[in-house]
Amino acid sequence: MAKEHKRPDGRKLNELRKMIAKVGIIPNADGSAMFAFGDTVAIAAVYGPRQLHPQHMRNSSTGILRCNYDLLSFSVYDRKRPGPSRRSQEISRVTEWALLPAIDLSQFPNTVVDVQIYILQADAGTRTAGINAASMALAHAGIPMKDLICSVALGKNDQTLITDLTKEEEDYKEGEGATDFAIAKLANNDEFSLMQMDGKIQPEKVKEVLEMANEACKTIYEAQKKALKEVVENPQGGTEA
Ligand code: CDP
Repeated sequence: MAKEHKRPDGRKLNELRKMIAKVGIIPNADGSAMFAFGDTVAIAAVYGPRQLHPQHMRNSSTGILRCNYDLLSFSVYDRKRPGPSRRSQEISRVTEWALLPAIDLSQFPNTVVDVQIYILQADAGTRTAGINAASMALAHAGIPMKDLICSVALGKNDQTLITDLTKEEEDYKEGEGATDFAIAKLANNDEFSLMQMDGKIQPEKVKEVLEMANEACKTIYEAQKKALKEVVENPQGGTEA
């Protein structure tokens, strides 16, 4: 019989890290939120809809979504060089694509909705934490949405499928090594809006990964909804000193 796989932090195979979801963290933004999976912490701020510059990028039949993802220098152990990189540009684009199926900007022609995503601390899964924060921030900004987007990374250590990998699990070297899938989906139907994979997986295991994603996204959706409800009930938030 195969040896049972033990995760370094003792989680069950399908268990998410401790999540923190908060809405309304940046007073000057039109919408804002933070989302953490364990030591991965993302914040998102939404500005707009506002007039789009440069003018040639305007679309007279709809507003556009513009996301900017930034992994801050102090978010990782080896200080990251500040400023844009190929990685941050790629993550900014896939974040836009992941969020677009949930939003409708047709009422706001010639405008842009800017979503700024900052990773304050990184321990793998930063794009997925950023998408969760951005989805809540868009809802907080009152952007017309048909659903929330939930996002999570799943993967494989050797032959065992696991939910919400840490950096240590992403770097797993034994047996078949590590594979990770970043996934985003609409909360209330089976439409996936992001699927990116790093590593290798047997095709027959993909269905199981998607089932694990569905299950994890239900838990994430509850955390997002709870945070949005809290800000509706207490718009000032926090405790006054
Ligand atoms: O963060 P995510 O899993 O979405 O994307 P990744 O490109 O697969 O990065 C995985 C992890 O590597 C990040 O979450 C960071 O913990 C780490 N990383 C780093 O230490 N330095 C970088 N310049 C980029 C990523």
